[in-house]
Amino acid sequence: MCGIAGYIGKKEGLETVLEGLKRVEYRGYDSAGVLFFQNGKPVLVKRQGKLANLERVLRGTVTKGKGSTQGINIGTGTIGHTRWATHGMPDEINAHPHHDCKKEIFLVHNGIIENHQELKDKLTKLGHKFRSQTDTEVVVHLLEENLKKIKNFDKTLKKSLREIVGAYAFAIVYTKEPDKIYFARLGSPLVLGLGIEEFYLASDPAELAGKVKKVIYLKDGQAGWISGTDFKLNPVKSKIENLNLTAEQAQKGNFPHFMLKEIFEEPEAIRTAMRGRLFPKKDLVKLGGLESVAQKLKKIEKIEIIACGTSYHAGLLGELLFEEVAGISTKTIEASEYRYRQNAITPNTAHLFISQSGETADTIAALWKANRQKGITLGLVNVVGSTIARETKAGVYNHAGLEIGVASTKAFISQVTILNLIALYLSENKSLKRKLSEELALIPKKIELILKQNRQIKSLAKKYLKFKNFMFIGRKYNYPTAIEGALKLKEISYVHAEGKTAGELKHGPIALIEPNFPTVALVNKNSVYEKMLSNLQEIKARKGKIIAIATSGDKKIAGLADDVIFVPKTLEPLEPLLNIVPLQLFAYHFGTLLGYDVDKPRNLAKSVTVE
Ligand code: AGP
Repeated sequence: MCGIAGYIGKKEGLETVLEGLKRVEYRGYDSAGVLFFQNGKPVLVKRQGKLANLERVLRGTVTKGKGSTQGINIGTGTIGHTRWATHGMPDEINAHPHHDCKKEIFLVHNGIIENHQELKDKLTKLGHKFRSQTDTEVVVHLLEENLKKIKNFDKTLKKSLREIVGAYAFAIVYTKEPDKIYFARLGSPLVLGLGIEEFYLASDPAELAGKVKKVIYLKDGQAGWISGTDFKLNPVKSKIENLNLTAEQAQKGNFPHFMLKEIFEEPEAIRTAMRGRLFPKKDLVKLGGLESVAQKLKKIEKIEIIACGTSYHAGLLGELLFEEVAGISTKTIEASEYRYRQNAITPNTAHLFISQSGETADTIAALWKANRQKGITLGLVNVVGSTIARETKAGVYNHAGLEIGVASTKAFISQVTILNLIALYLSENKSLKRKLSEELALIPKKIELILKQNRQIKSLAKKYLKFKNFMFIGRKYNYPTAIEGALKLKEISYVHAEGKTAGELKHGPIALIEPNFPTVALVNKNSVYEKMLSNLQEIKARKGKIIAIATSGDKKIAGLADDVIFVPKTLEPLEPLLNIVPLQLFAYHFGTLLGYDVDKPRNLAKSVTVE
């Protein structure tokens, strides 16, 4: 989720690009950089941290007048980038733009180069010197190598793109053609802004809001260049569209809240989590971040998963997956408990810390404790370079992009996806691995089908808006899903929602059930389906209302539940990835219908960095 900005034309390039990058600062970034021309010479400035750090330096070093960068470069190419690190620490050396050995090619990138290691090995053998840990840097050296033979940059770009595997949006300045910016798009968004005697490149239309009225949303496989007076596009076929967006609107796309936008990003979050890692046809799961401990992991006899909140709920699913798919004894503990317990230390134990932010105080404290026990500590983290990512011995990044809504949605889906990948990575059960891998690859499309029910789920939330208490129940994989659904509802609607294993109802909680205390029940057609139907009978007998999440085609459920949301059939371990989506949407609509700010719920913070 990086931000790219490019400009060439009649206005001051540097100011324009910095302004564009500011428009995408909501995407979050851990470093930023620009390439521009000053008196005909390329100037590269990069800084770690917020965009303001970069602006401060630029005003200091290239200012012509008081506090401005006026008159620095008009008519020459300027490119800028805010980085959401996927490979390599979020520091200055890894910040974009990256350049080749001769500093003639400068490039910014949004996406992932999956075959970066093999390209890097080949180019290193050819004498190229790499400075950063990023996947992106291989592209500038590849261009440099190909340009030696081909001489023409346009053709060089075309050839190089054929050698790259992955997702990219590129903006490139070749210093021998300062009046052009080259670009290419595959898998990551890139927008062409068409002005009068000026052209823009942007990873997000928010950057162009109020600046141009016409844009081209580049399609996968398109490449070309812009100059101050013209542009070239290959393949040519494109639709010029109107852009009538305020900057604020554009940041959320067509969504009223980041939370809803992030729920709709969940299919892509799963694809990104699996990209370059899951190869069903080869019975293969590749997790580069675990390679350094691969031999040790073969010997572990126990896994302890430690996390907080939604990440803890993901951990509970990891516990079931590691036990059922990988056959490894696993326990999940809340970090706030783990850090104060006298835990029995068993040899050959791996500690897995799950955290979206990588900065949760309780989880960090638990990590310090585990590190003192000298076991293997692993991280499952979204924010690259965060404390938990840095302090664990090895780990896997979500690559889910920035999650802005305080209530975690796409991060949870990404965590559960990766826990499935880790379970498959550790498993020796070939037939189960094959079945699960093939089904996992189909989940994004199945979620897209569920998202089409958004309106019906909104009506359902409206129907139940008057209730102040909810019970959420499920069994096996649907118990952690039920308590996560309950957490979503309570944290953004402020109504009481209790999640319980359905089997436990009769041991006390059923005393709560009455017409004013509805139950959300996860009743997929699975190994415990009949047991769940009995639970629904118990609830109905006490006149409790039931909202059921059920498998498409289930004929029985309508006779028992007051309302049903159907989800596609899938394998039992993967049901949480589908079931959680209607629960997130239900909570989202419940909260918005009550008039609350669902992106910033009261009393909460996106990252609980205090105890
Ligand atoms: C999730 O909806 C909550 N906002 C919260 O429980 C969160 O999951 C918890 O604080 C852990 O955060 P982390 O994943 O960043 O460690």
